[in-house]
Amino acid sequence: MPNRRSFQSFHPFARLGRLLDAHPPGAEPILLSIGEPKNQPPAFVAEEIAKAAATWSSYPPPRGTEAYRGACADWLTGRYALPAGMIDQAKHILPLPGSREGLFFAVVAAVQDYQLKHGNAAEPPVVLLPNPFYHVYAGSALAVGAEPVFVPATAASGFMPDYAALDAALLKRAAFCFLNSPANPQGAAAGRDYLARLIDLARRHDFVVGFDECYSEIYAETPPAGALEAAIDLGGSLDHLLVFHSLSKRSSAPGLRCGFAAGDAALIDSLDVALRVGGAGVSHPILAAGARLWRDEAHVEANRDYYRQNFALAQRILGNRFGFRQPAGGFFLWLDVGDGEAAALKLWREAGVRVLPGGYMAEPGPDGVNPGARYIRVALVYDAASTEEGLNRIVQTLGDWVGARDAEQPLAAAEG
Ligand SMILES: Cc1ncc(COP(=O)(O)O)c(C=O)c1O
Repeated sequence: MPNRRSFQSFHPFARLGRLLDAHPPGAEPILLSIGEPKNQPPAFVAEEIAKAAATWSSYPPPRGTEAYRGACADWLTGRYALPAGMIDQAKHILPLPGSREGLFFAVVAAVQDYQLKHGNAAEPPVVLLPNPFYHVYAGSALAVGAEPVFVPATAASGFMPDYAALDAALLKRAAFCFLNSPANPQGAAAGRDYLARLIDLARRHDFVVGFDECYSEIYAETPPAGALEAAIDLGGSLDHLLVFHSLSKRSSAPGLRCGFAAGDAALIDSLDVALRVGGAGVSHPILAAGARLWRDEAHVEANRDYYRQNFALAQRILGNRFGFRQPAGGFFLWLDVGDGEAAALKLWREAGVRVLPGGYMAEPGPDGVNPGARYIRVALVYDAASTEEGLNRIVQTLGDWVGARDAEQPLAAAEG
């Protein structure tokens, strides 16, 4: 993607608006396009915020509070069975409004550090990202004038990018690398070995690797592996490594704006300063509510049950259509419908179902092929009744259409 691209030109929802908004929906709309949780966080969130109301007159405390950082460090230690002391809340944790802000500013910080170290190199620093990707990854690279390098994360590579296969000259210019596991949109999760190999690659080529783990708690059976576990396998150092977590999906609280980054102390310092220059902190009442959420697992298990029910519906209604598979994590279906943009338009105009064309979350590769183009992303965030209705409409509208397309284009249909 050339650096001259505007945010508007690649923002998936801006593109979706341009595709659909001129057309009336064919039925009462069901919005399966946006990955926003629809169930509620626990009632104690409002209680904690009310209790701390006297602190609204204060600026958010830099680096949050010991109570919040302690809750995050304890949660990480329990979730990933980390050795005691591996995460020091004073040095290794930074509260964030959400993972989005942290991911964006981590690139700002890493690119600045890279430029200070390398001077005015002839070629811009590189940001490595999976393709398809969460739009903030590309946006952060564009904002700082870095070169985004899109690495295919398709069925052929288990939906994970193969960064080690990149040219050494490119890896040398890398300032930052994103990994999203479990991945939006594909729902794949990286294994512990994969994560360890990526940390090792980052150390050998001296770039920062940012693990976006904001979907780590939305899974059916097996908790996805995390980068901190993989770091234990390499001796326990946090060198070159940042992980990003959030209450947005785990606790169905995206409006709270509460998460954290954890990792190498110097990288946490850089990220902290970058956020203080241009970002927002997390206020006292939100920190109080957030600390209590990180210390509670009952509501998270209830959340997982909510999504389990929706995925069971998907299994029953979709069966083996459109390459359906249960994702390892997250709440999206990534369905191979042959032409995601045409399918999204058809679903909206004929059935009132709004989904995101997969191509809007991806860039064409050097071969001109957009690795998301065949897919639609379907968010299973609504209650069971709406989800069931939405999925039934998808099957009714696309079932024969996709079958007919595949019969016409058998070779394309066989691709990953
Ligand atoms: C892959 C990915 N990362 C990060 C985020 C940002 O979430 P938040 O900033 O609410 O933590 C999202 C939200 O949709 C996402 O899909």
